[in-house]
Amino acid sequence: MTAALTRPRCDETAAWKALGRQFEDTGRRFDLREGFRSDTGRFESLSLQAPHVFADLSKNLIDAAAEALLLDLARECQLERHRDAMFGGEPVNNTEGRAAKHWLLRAPRGAGADPDAAEVHATLDAMLAYAEQVRGDGAITDVVNIGIGGSDLGPQMAVAALAEFALPGKRFHFVSNVDGHELAGVLRQLKPESTLFLIASKTFTTIETMTNARSARAWFQDQGGRDTARHFAALTTNVAAAGEFGISTTFGFWDWVGGRYSMWSAIGLPVAIAIGAAGFRQLLAGAHEMDRHFQATPLDRNLPVRLGLLDIWYRNFHRFATRSIAPYHSALGRLPAYLQQLEMESNGKSVDARGRPLAVGTSPVLWGEPGTNGQHAYFQMLHQGSDVVPVEFIAARQPMHSLRGHHGQLLANVLAQAQALMQGKPDDGGHKNFPGNRPSTFFLLERLDPASLGALLALYEHRVFVSGSLWGINSFDQWGVELGKVLAKDIAPRLDSGDVSGLDPSTAGLLRRLR
Ligand code: F6P
Repeated sequence: MTAALTRPRCDETAAWKALGRQFEDTGRRFDLREGFRSDTGRFESLSLQAPHVFADLSKNLIDAAAEALLLDLARECQLERHRDAMFGGEPVNNTEGRAAKHWLLRAPRGAGADPDAAEVHATLDAMLAYAEQVRGDGAITDVVNIGIGGSDLGPQMAVAALAEFALPGKRFHFVSNVDGHELAGVLRQLKPESTLFLIASKTFTTIETMTNARSARAWFQDQGGRDTARHFAALTTNVAAAGEFGISTTFGFWDWVGGRYSMWSAIGLPVAIAIGAAGFRQLLAGAHEMDRHFQATPLDRNLPVRLGLLDIWYRNFHRFATRSIAPYHSALGRLPAYLQQLEMESNGKSVDARGRPLAVGTSPVLWGEPGTNGQHAYFQMLHQGSDVVPVEFIAARQPMHSLRGHHGQLLANVLAQAQALMQGKPDDGGHKNFPGNRPSTFFLLERLDPASLGALLALYEHRVFVSGSLWGINSFDQWGVELGKVLAKDIAPRLDSGDVSGLDPSTAGLLRRLR
């Protein structure tokens, strides 16, 4: 059996029991304000600098004793062995018999001895050469990415995040939904001779993507478009299927790249077109720096490890069921959606890697919006609601614009929110009482650029690996999305035929109304 299967699961360890006792004795009642009063070095001891990301963990409901036990837990669960198995190319995705080597996509040429490294670099070079060619092709004004899930969220998020680094003169569109309103709305803005369609699908079988791709091809032909080779490219592991579809320009990747870990591969082509080959290499380099940090830093100074352990503490001991992502950078507007797939598709499981039911909670619900917008919408609940929601603030010291008077306001607000959540404000009257002691983590980038974005995303990937590893689950499969796909295939023809035989009464009733 691989390392993924033979390691102890968190709830089977001595450290787990000790954590339970620690929580009952002091952890449950830990008060942040008291924590800062009694330890003047709390900020210094609970903040750390990882590549491109400074993290302040000091406003979390944790003390040195719980930290120490969580680190014991990581050791008892053989986290480092599991991490090394992933970086060693072992089949840590055991239910699909695959390695999880997204980290290889950002390893510099010549680093390590992975057998796939040469092919990775040859593909990257070809993809980036193509990106430069498209950038130089002034006749192409619109790039349309057709893909869903991991073949959409990463590039969409990163193109927006790095808009300040993008070549002016090209517009990017992302079509994911099988709902034709989305594609129709985009097509209305396009002309075939100035459009490049990128069909992004790891499998090249996903129903939404193939439906949109067929409609895009039909539109292109109907509008008199010629030269499919110039106007369509495919990003896929299934190059044969792309060929059958009629696309000859293809950039491949490998089955060991999970969809939600794929923006570093050919799936990142829209990003490379937007920010150029050099920018894309900086994105990869930033992520690689975080890979090295995760691999080489002792557990107690290892940021993904510390975050993953905190996630366990919050989910399984404090029993917080959700976590809010609050990027105080409007360019990170799609980051919460991206992180939802990353964390919830990876760790939203209730059996371990051996298929045994888990007795503990796993992935929290992730949600959020950029600040300061969230403040004027749902922050009320964060401050005074009945549930405690740990918040993750993300800010950049330097803005990427030169408008005066904005960035100071933004930074003042993000600091104030973290402060208000922690400090609270007593008020006898009730309505104006802020309980405080509400936890948050603060991530600070020097500025949002390709390298820091790469590092931030790799940080989240590894943190998800850490909590998944301790829960003993396979973070790299996603069987939970299969059933809905199968049932939709069964229902689609029934919408035409009206056949409701064998359907439950609710589905049958709705189907009749929809015809
Ligand atoms: O339905 C879930 C999923 O398999 C995701 O994991 C994946 O990112 C998405 O569908 C898209 O898959 P593909 O890239 O193969 O079209």
